[in-house]
Amino acid sequence: MCGIVGYIGAKNCIPILIGGLKRLEYRGYDSAGIGILTDDSTKVIKSVGKVSVLQEKVDSLDLNANIGIGHTRWATHGVPNEINAHPHMNADGSLLLIHNGIIENYEVLKETLKHFGYEFRSETDTEVLTMLIDSFLKKGHDLLNAVRAALSEVEGTYGIAVIYKEEPDKIVVAKKGSPLVIGIGDNENYIASDVSALVAHTQQVVYLEDGEVAEVYCDKFIAKDVSDKEIEKEVKEITLKLDEISKSGYAHFMLKEIMEQPESICNAMRGRLLLGEGTSKLGGLEDYIDRIVQSKRIIISACGTSWHAGLVGEYMLEQFAEIPTEVEYASEFRYRNPLIYPDDTIIFISQSGETADTLAALKESKRKGALVIGICNVVGSSIARESSTGIYIHAGPEIGVASTKAFTAQLTVLSLLTLLIARKKRMSLVDGQNIVKEIESLPEKIEKILSLDSKIEKIADQFKDAKNFLYLGRGYNFPVALEGALKLKEISYIHAEGYPAAEMKHGPIALIDKDMPVVFLAPKDSTYDKILSNIQEVKARHGRIIAVASESDNRIDKLVDYTIKIPDTIRMLMPILTVVPLQLLAYHIAVKKGLNVDQPRNLAKSVTVE
Ligand code: F6R
Repeated sequence: MCGIVGYIGAKNCIPILIGGLKRLEYRGYDSAGIGILTDDSTKVIKSVGKVSVLQEKVDSLDLNANIGIGHTRWATHGVPNEINAHPHMNADGSLLLIHNGIIENYEVLKETLKHFGYEFRSETDTEVLTMLIDSFLKKGHDLLNAVRAALSEVEGTYGIAVIYKEEPDKIVVAKKGSPLVIGIGDNENYIASDVSALVAHTQQVVYLEDGEVAEVYCDKFIAKDVSDKEIEKEVKEITLKLDEISKSGYAHFMLKEIMEQPESICNAMRGRLLLGEGTSKLGGLEDYIDRIVQSKRIIISACGTSWHAGLVGEYMLEQFAEIPTEVEYASEFRYRNPLIYPDDTIIFISQSGETADTLAALKESKRKGALVIGICNVVGSSIARESSTGIYIHAGPEIGVASTKAFTAQLTVLSLLTLLIARKKRMSLVDGQNIVKEIESLPEKIEKILSLDSKIEKIADQFKDAKNFLYLGRGYNFPVALEGALKLKEISYIHAEGYPAAEMKHGPIALIDKDMPVVFLAPKDSTYDKILSNIQEVKARHGRIIAVASESDNRIDKLVDYTIKIPDTIRMLMPILTVVPLQLLAYHIAVKKGLNVDQPRNLAKSVTVE
């Protein structure tokens, strides 16, 4: 979703802003803009479409400035066009503002401002906030106090950065619900919504918390809390490296991230498995484990792919940890006043750690007294910081909008958590040790699946023109069917549905004919024979079948059109393997359709609005 970048120092800010915006492209956006402050004036340049279009415009102008802000916009209020793109400015152009988030009461504020003679050019909520700040500047406030006064009238979420011609030595930033980071340089400072925009320049960062504002000068920053008290902020070191956020020779980030999975799940389990004791060690949970083990119920809440990971977690936790587990869409959970008891443990799963619905559901659960565990990828993200405790998945930066390596790392961490609880309960040492060994063998097995890439690419060739797809699986592989369908629809724009295979007879079977490809997840497990019956039913209706099956299976080939054979593992870990061919299938179909795999239309990497 929208991205923010800014610079103040001795260098020309233009290449820094454009470079930062390019690093933020992965978040998803539809227009971009920069605003700069030179000796005597401000200048704003905007464009619709890619940052490269903005760059061409900017390059043709030969600009130079030591302070500036830049923004990528993902349209919420008003279509993607130059007028609605950020920065927005006041009437005389002295004040420039960029904003992530949503101002919920913007219509009321706009009407009031109109009453006082303000005119609006755009359809955005952000322009309203700009004019509101301007109205406080006109009343004699300095920039910081005008921003604070305006924000006190605002309902909604924001990460903002503001520059003002009359106070050219600073950028004022504020945060509530949308991330905002200050990057500390040597006599220069940066601001961004995401550390990936800063990593080329500095490793030292300061995260603003909700309600905080800061004045960022070239040689210092002053942060204040809601009560206007100056606060000492901790400077943190980011471990992110530049090569982790480049494609490293791959055609797309998504392909790189699929191929990285042997390594990313190694990182997710590194130092956390204890073979001798047949259990796992999760540092963050040490102080809470007794309470978790005694939970009467576990609730897992998340969105999208992370929600699918939660569904697999439900199977794992109920089977081995023997704790009733429910999985909730965060967007539903947060609004229905859920019943939460003191002996509940609530797990929030989020790759980005910034998903607005998940974050809001977490805050509500905390408010109701639950123990809240965050499973996140992005270190220092809002969900990671707001949780009572947590487990990082250590998958490394995920740049492709379609989540791949985060999903398998989430499942790996959920298996470690399950093992930890199960061993504190009734699981035997031998069973625990067997699970440890199986988890440790996953990277090698994923390597084997990845070596089928060219075979899967050939299968993709046969299906790239399909209009619909069905994905079917049972038990642990039902959530994988959902995930496979999600991957395909989000990057190839082919309509796809995932179902528990047995549900097919209750409706979807009506769709099956020779034009309906059906992907079956059919590894040899206790549901195998039932899956074979479902395959027969599809075959009898001339559906085209792709099956993800066990290496050792030589019955299935005769029944289906294409098989993708994968190594065996225990049932609870099977989704970590079965999902990989589905990721590759979706990837190759989208590439063959000539689509933008890493930045699919309308999607954002980090959904920071409801
Ligand atoms: C799908 C995808 C999304 C995210 C969802 C939650 O490929 O990426 O469905 O899984 O927006 O995002 P996080 O995990 O960052 O909370």
